[in-house]
Amino acid sequence: MPLITVVGSGRVGTSAALQIALRELGDIVLLDVIQGLPQGEALDLNHACAILDLDVDVKGSNDYRDIQGSDVVVVTAGLTRKPDMTRLDLLLKNAEIIKEVSRHIRENAPKSKVIVVTNPLDVMAYVAYRVTGFESRRVMGFSGLLDVGRYRYLIRNRLGVSYKSIRGMVIGEHGDSMVLLPSHTYVGTEPLSKYMDEKSTAEIVEATRKMGAEIIRLKGWSAHHAPGAGVAVMVEAILKDQKSIIPTSTLLTGQYGEKDVYAVLPCVLGAEGVEKVLEPSLSPDELTKFRESVKIIRNAVNQLSLDKT
Ligand code: LAC
Repeated sequence: MPLITVVGSGRVGTSAALQIALRELGDIVLLDVIQGLPQGEALDLNHACAILDLDVDVKGSNDYRDIQGSDVVVVTAGLTRKPDMTRLDLLLKNAEIIKEVSRHIRENAPKSKVIVVTNPLDVMAYVAYRVTGFESRRVMGFSGLLDVGRYRYLIRNRLGVSYKSIRGMVIGEHGDSMVLLPSHTYVGTEPLSKYMDEKSTAEIVEATRKMGAEIIRLKGWSAHHAPGAGVAVMVEAILKDQKSIIPTSTLLTGQYGEKDVYAVLPCVLGAEGVEKVLEPSLSPDELTKFRESVKIIRNAVNQLSLDKT
């Protein structure tokens, strides 16, 4: 049975654990620094599994020795955005948390694949890559499925077509500068432009970019159901060696001339983690926006000191 660790037992961590359990992907360790919280959440999740006849074990823990043998470690630890905060405001505080979590992963789960969920996403994924010292294919950031899910929701609402027939893609930062790609969005066999005019498309792109903040404004805390679902899809792609193409924050190694920074691009996910990074053809405008987005991530990384890790 594979072992999946979820670090952080807040809303995102517990939602991810539930979605992983629903797919029976493996046993789960839910780890948190707060005494009692992961143990209580684990009991509750185990009872959900009992009701649903899901034969997986969920263990709550405050001890990183319990993550030994993990195949995948999902990192959700950190502070979440308050209504008046941008994702980048979280930068300095969460970087310290991710550094500490990464040291524990390096020590206790040295063979694992790591999926970072904490914001600001691309920066935190890069911090985890640097501090664990793992090959870049084993350290990735979750967000693209979330942003594309929101985008596909809006397209489905306008067109009345099943999710199964709508494919979209996003690249760049998980943040205000994300670059949705209508040019690589398909409804059945046709590009989105066949069914939707430029104005409606632009509205959907804009609404997708603002959706994270909109959810926080409405309910008072950030999204967790959709992140949990998306994390489970990535864990499944890795554990089942699916070779699924998933927008993933990954180390750039020369794609579009960019390197030594994490940003979202379509990636092939399989047993090795990120097995291939794809470079969709971009219009000059899309390329400019991607580069601007990468610059924002790079500027944020430059505010951190990552040498003494
Ligand atoms: C969102 C935040 C949590 O997009 O990044 O919902």
